Amino acid sequence: MAETDLEQTFSVLEAKFLDSNNLVRVVLSGRRRNMQTLHERIDMRPVLIKEVLHIQVSHSDGRQMTTKNYLPLQTPFAELLRSGYANILLEGTSETLNVRITKKGEALLHREKSSKEPELSHDRSKARLLDASDPFLIAIGISDAQGEVKPSKSDKYMQVEEFLRILAPTLAGAISAGHIAQPTEAKPLTIVDLGCGHAYLTFAAHQYLRSQGIPVKVIGIDIRPAARDRNNEIASQLGISSSIEFRAEEIADTTLTTADVAIALHACDTATDDAIAWAINTDAKLALIAPCCHHDIQAQMNEIPEPWSLITRNGIMKERLGDLLTDALRMQIMKLRGYRVEAIEFVGGEHTPRNLMIRAVKTGAPADKNEAAKYEQMLSLWKVKPALASLISR
Ligand SMILES: C[S@@+](CC[C@H](N)C(=O)[O-])C[C@H]1O[C@@H](n2cnc3c(N)ncnc32)[C@H](O)[C@@H]1O
Repeated sequence: MAETDLEQTFSVLEAKFLDSNNLVRVVLSGRRRNMQTLHERIDMRPVLIKEVLHIQVSHSDGRQMTTKNYLPLQTPFAELLRSGYANILLEGTSETLNVRITKKGEALLHREKSSKEPELSHDRSKARLLDASDPFLIAIGISDAQGEVKPSKSDKYMQVEEFLRILAPTLAGAISAGHIAQPTEAKPLTIVDLGCGHAYLTFAAHQYLRSQGIPVKVIGIDIRPAARDRNNEIASQLGISSSIEFRAEEIADTTLTTADVAIALHACDTATDDAIAWAINTDAKLALIAPCCHHDIQAQMNEIPEPWSLITRNGIMKERLGDLLTDALRMQIMKLRGYRVEAIEFVGGEHTPRNLMIRAVKTGAPADKNEAAKYEQMLSLWKVKPALASLISR
């Protein structure tokens, strides 16, 4: 068992809990020294209610079981964790965390690999974050008037769901770690979708976060005036124009100067660079970027450092390597500007088969000299200069 700082352990547990799709159960029991608990034991588990994932929190007073269901982001998990229990068991689908808080108030954390499935009351594959009959899904054309997902839009529906499954825990983690201020009605969370197109994901983020009790202000930006007009019309039909708005602007020239969260999903080619540059230059705290086509680095890959011609002599492989180089350099630029960056999988859209997403959270960690050197080495090895580098303000 590793002894760790209590608050740090709580943050680990909170991050695991917020990944509610991979949660099996949580049990809080025992009592910490000099602390009282309201109940002897608390059990939490994910359940499906009308096909929407909830967290069921239950406790017993010895005679009767009391149960309450919460939407994942509204579950008072952080409070319950700190309410005096000495033993915390958190079972996830691939890992179990066991925490014992000692008399001295230190946490002993034990992690074990496991393979478990949550016992949801319905078919797990049906767990949806958005009800298909939600009026916004009908208004944006994913569902028909009867509230059924249109067969032609089922891929988009899946993509929207997957996006929310990435957005929600990432956001909650960034808020609980203090990287993003807790949103309030007076100071809502601000999100910009750069290159929003038909705004399926823009509306979905707005509706889902609001349904979870998070005050938001969302702005969608797209170069096409027709997209702006259509999306603003839908917002007005839904009566949500006060918290979601669309503008017809180029990402590189947008008049918007700040947002907590920047998303850019399958924006074309260097529009992705414009979006990342916007996030870095305006100090956005969270960026979710799913790149689309990449031409910038591809076009510069003329002098191939050997023995890499083994790969680049095949056109399709050269293209993939070019994609990887582009995204790795983009990520490194973000890392050097104080972001914690990861590449995760995200389904491609109808315009692109590419399935990579860059997830970046601004932690403000100072740039590491070795990492800066690796970046420079990569540029000189391949004799390339990423478009993004020239868009970043010093
Ligand atoms: C492939 S679509 C993706 C739409 C949406 N993000 C999604 O994932 O469903 C790309 C969108 O980016 C917009 N776009 C491309 N370059 C842009 C730029 N430089 N500034 C603003 N919008 C841009 C296009 O008009 C198009 O609507």
